[in-house]
Amino acid sequence: MDKNTHNISAIRNFCILAHIDHGKSTLADRFLEITGTVEKRRMRDQFLDMHPLEREKGITIKMQPVRMSYTLYPDEPYTLNLIDTPGHVDFNYEVSRALAAVEGALLLVDATQGVQAQTLANLALAEREKLEIIPAVNKIDLPSAEVEKTKQEVAELLGIGAEGVLAISAKTGAGVEELLQKIVEKIPPPLEIPGGALRALVFDSLFDPYQGIIAYIRIFDGSVRKGDTVRFLASQADCEVLETGVFSPARSAIEKIGPGEIGYIATGIKEPEKVRVGDTITHKPYKTDKTHVEPLRGYLEPAPMVYASVFPENQDQYDALREAFRKLRLNDAALSFVPEESPSLGRGFRAGFLGMLHMEIAAERIRREYDLALIFTNPSVAFRVKTRCRGVSGKMIEVYSASKLPQPQEIEIIEEPWALVEIISPPSFLGIIQSLIHENGGIMKDTLNLGKERLRVSFEAPLREIITDFYDKLKSVSQGYASMAYEFIGFRPGDLVRLNILVAGETVDAFSEIIPRDEVYMIGRTKLLKLKEFLPRELFAIALQAEVEGRILARETIPAMKKDVTGYLYGGDRTRKMKLWKKQQRGKKRLRASAQVEIPAEVFLKMLKK
Ligand code: GTP
Repeated sequence: MDKNTHNISAIRNFCILAHIDHGKSTLADRFLEITGTVEKRRMRDQFLDMHPLEREKGITIKMQPVRMSYTLYPDEPYTLNLIDTPGHVDFNYEVSRALAAVEGALLLVDATQGVQAQTLANLALAEREKLEIIPAVNKIDLPSAEVEKTKQEVAELLGIGAEGVLAISAKTGAGVEELLQKIVEKIPPPLEIPGGALRALVFDSLFDPYQGIIAYIRIFDGSVRKGDTVRFLASQADCEVLETGVFSPARSAIEKIGPGEIGYIATGIKEPEKVRVGDTITHKPYKTDKTHVEPLRGYLEPAPMVYASVFPENQDQYDALREAFRKLRLNDAALSFVPEESPSLGRGFRAGFLGMLHMEIAAERIRREYDLALIFTNPSVAFRVKTRCRGVSGKMIEVYSASKLPQPQEIEIIEEPWALVEIISPPSFLGIIQSLIHENGGIMKDTLNLGKERLRVSFEAPLREIITDFYDKLKSVSQGYASMAYEFIGFRPGDLVRLNILVAGETVDAFSEIIPRDEVYMIGRTKLLKLKEFLPRELFAIALQAEVEGRILARETIPAMKKDVTGYLYGGDRTRKMKLWKKQQRGKKRLRASAQVEIPAEVFLKMLKK
């Protein structure tokens, strides 16, 4: 189809859902090749993983739309809009946004691995959106592929016959043409409301230095062209459209985008707050126009799971860091941030992330894309605290960092977030997985057989145990076979306290942490020993203390630096040396009394590394 003409019945919008590494991006490569979207000489593996970090880490972190033309039979041209999505649980928000912009989804399952936790989690999201699902088993070229068994497993999951599951190799291309045909035949074209006012959903955005904010849109009704004046319904921002276009997969301008299409508009807007993911775009209403445009459903605000305080290493870069956060949020809608001040680290932000990988990627993007050196504090979940004043219960408040926790005598209850976790594993690892769950404070819910060789284990556990290194431990005890997914289920009371670290008698807020009471001694000692190793010596001795509820639990001392004050004396009377030593001691005493220990930025960095 000529890219400027429009025939809604020939459009198919879809995305690919899969557990991490089951082959989404490789399958997208085959689609790009077969449809001739990318020339052979420009083709490279995982073409749609465009971000340098994606290529380095070999994982998808961003959704990426692409428009392809595909001719099924002579004279039957179709427009296929694919949105490639990430597979890791931390980027589920990207997946859920992509799902709201399409009518169908390919469910891809690796034939050497079978159904995994993220397969189930993603499938549940797609079913919620009532998408048409096309199942396929991938990697059938591998000798270890168990094609029939995996087909059966997927079929049972969907309640269909195994013949309804395709078998493909995204690597060799076997079966991929059939899959494209299935997409055309089974996924319904977008619904058209003839003559409807423009309604387009913003599902992603990015900042372009020349064209301002680029809004990625799915048009539900009406159409938009260059020069139109449009309004963002939630933010009430207006703009003149500087360019309309589609993704091929790079941005490519076309005159107009019509109903059912996926494309972009260049807005010229410079303020990130005006363009929000989930907002609806319509034509700017003229004064005489009384028609009311109902906004599209949009998205739920994502709930951050992990928080960390972020400070620029150099305080002069505070404004630059704020700009970096605002712009990054355009392209990473799950990121949240509010200003925060710390006595030891200065001005910075309290930022919320969907998980540790999300935090790591966001931190790396700020460092690279905005060239800023950062200090991150210990990542932590959010807590809820009920305060008490003279025996009377107060309000429940949310606390995002240990330094903001009220004094122990003012606390009635501390609550922490819990998660429902699902693990999929071969049954032989059940025993060891149960011990792992127990060690991490989990409560078993149930186990369910998914076929003969796979088990689903469900349990509830404090979120703080799950987000840090639980996944790594699970992978190691199950020799890489188990996978997991989790969701937040609510707050529950916990026996938690704030651990403070004092340097020369002063609490250093950035080192404070909210942790379970029975772990304070171990964590406190470990922190002191690390600090003793990293903190440079001074001319006086420095006391390091770990404190909980006003009690000192552990103590270490960094000895004073020895300076030879008598070095210039040759021989002679010993009393002269004694006099100098005495003077040095008096000086040290004075220094200790007024001791202000400067903690260098690199010590914070080293301390916060696990
Ligand atoms: P994320 O985007 O990180 O979730 O991964 P993904 O699902 O996009 O997986 P990707 O396409 O990056 O593939 C993961 C690995 O599997 C890569 O090394 C691919 O080369 C390999 N792979 C994908 N499909 C096939 C296949 O059909 N056969 C074989 N042998 N390898 C495959």
